[in-house]
Amino acid sequence: MTAGLSTAHQMSPEIADVFRPAGQVMLRTVDDTQAWGARLGALLKAGDLLLLTGDLGAGKTTLTQGIAAGLGVRGPVTSPTYVIARVHPSITGGPDLVHVDAYRLGGLAELDDLDLDASLESAVTIVEWGHGVAEDLSEGYLEVTLRGYDARTVDLVGHGARWTDPATAAALDDLVSLA
Ligand SMILES: Nc1ncnc2c1ncn2[C@@H]1O[C@H](COP(=O)(O)OP(=O)(O)O)[C@@H](O)[C@H]1O
Ligand SMILES: [Mg+2]
Repeated sequence: MTAGLSTAHQMSPEIADVFRPAGQVMLRTVDDTQAWGARLGALLKAGDLLLLTGDLGAGKTTLTQGIAAGLGVRGPVTSPTYVIARVHPSITGGPDLVHVDAYRLGGLAELDDLDLDASLESAVTIVEWGHGVAEDLSEGYLEVTLRGYDARTVDLVGHGARWTDPATAAALDDLVSLA
């Protein structure tokens, strides 16, 4: 019952719960974005949740195409016009990819209607425009933010134990520093 213990207890969950790799990725071309996405995709496991943030045309779908290639799922990954969530089955015995575009969703209630819970644990789930709506789908998530015109920059922020785990953090550091 020391003050020190209770301070540590209060502070540690907040601090340890977020991981930002040092540095920033620069993706100059569509090919760069897809190739880097493939490297990110190769790290992903069943249960992973990614939120892709960035303006219209920022490259969220282009990045998802690369992630799909790295994961080894059946394409093509496209910008859905009518379909809000699409399942891309694995062709390599790994997890499927569930690709969601929340742009046209009216908010949390409609996200719930998609019933993503059913596949969250067995698949990799990527939500474009997920910021502010999809954070609570899982215990943690990786937010990937794309910015810029022509050359894109990418920021990664991992939330929760999966993304702050030392092995994952090291892999994310590599992904950022090698780009
Ligand atoms: N470095 C780059 N990375 C990704 N896309 C790029 C890049 N440079 C130009 N583009 C173009 O920007 C557009 C990105 O579109 P898209 O991936 O559908 O964006 P979003 O899903 O974020 O709306 C595409 O037309 C693509 O050809
Ligand atoms: Mg898109």
